[in-house]
Amino acid sequence: MIESFDPPLADSNSIVSTLRVPLAAPVHLDKEWFHHLPGPAFGQLKLGAFDHDLTVQGVSEPIGTRVIVHGTVTDSGGIPVKNALVEIWQANAAGGYRDSMDVSGFPLDANFHGAGRCLTDSRGAYRFVTIRPGPYPAMFKDGARAWRASHIHFSVLGAGCAGRLVTQMYFEGDPLIRMDRMINAVPDRRGQERLIALLDEENSVAESFGPRRTLATVDGSGAVVHPPERTDPGALLSRNPSALAYRFDIVLRGSAATPFE
Ligand SMILES: [Fe+2]
Repeated sequence: MIESFDPPLADSNSIVSTLRVPLAAPVHLDKEWFHHLPGPAFGQLKLGAFDHDLTVQGVSEPIGTRVIVHGTVTDSGGIPVKNALVEIWQANAAGGYRDSMDVSGFPLDANFHGAGRCLTDSRGAYRFVTIRPGPYPAMFKDGARAWRASHIHFSVLGAGCAGRLVTQMYFEGDPLIRMDRMINAVPDRRGQERLIALLDEENSVAESFGPRRTLATVDGSGAVVHPPERTDPGALLSRNPSALAYRFDIVLRGSAATPFE
């Protein structure tokens, strides 16, 4: 029997989870249904060349520490899941979401939209470039306010799987993890550890020098000259390439499965 590290479907402390728990009893499907399911074919999905890079979606760099988040998506037995659609969404460095549901009032970053997507390659590998999201306080069903640790929301939809994995990724060494109610809803420490991305020094980039900082200036006629802006998403602006890398491997099924939200 496979141990489950998934949190309870309805976590009495989480307003969101209680709103999405099924109200009706499960429907039992014919044993053979899975073999006849055509499944979605994401190989045909057209992704933008820079959909995976959340730091080039604005006219300039978003504020925050740049991070590379990468890993593999595998099925039970370590089989790579290729062409899986991996989507992420997250807060900006100040802990604010570009979402009307976010009532925090925290500042938005005009250069950070907070969402990205990519397809896994033939080895099941995915890679995002983004900024480290800030922590933010959340309200829970019991009325308590508590800080959430920095986290990135993940959705994984494989071409061959009927389900969609929705989960949250945390950052190794973040002291807020111990007081984060969401990760602590996962009943076993081993399950919690599967949600924590490991700092990956080997794939981090440390460069002290970047392009000369360009600030708005005033020319001879008194007109303000603004620094160069990106006109298309992904258009290259010279920048310091530094980034901290984090490794987050996702396992869809089996005894080492990543806990679902
Ligand atoms: Fe969140």
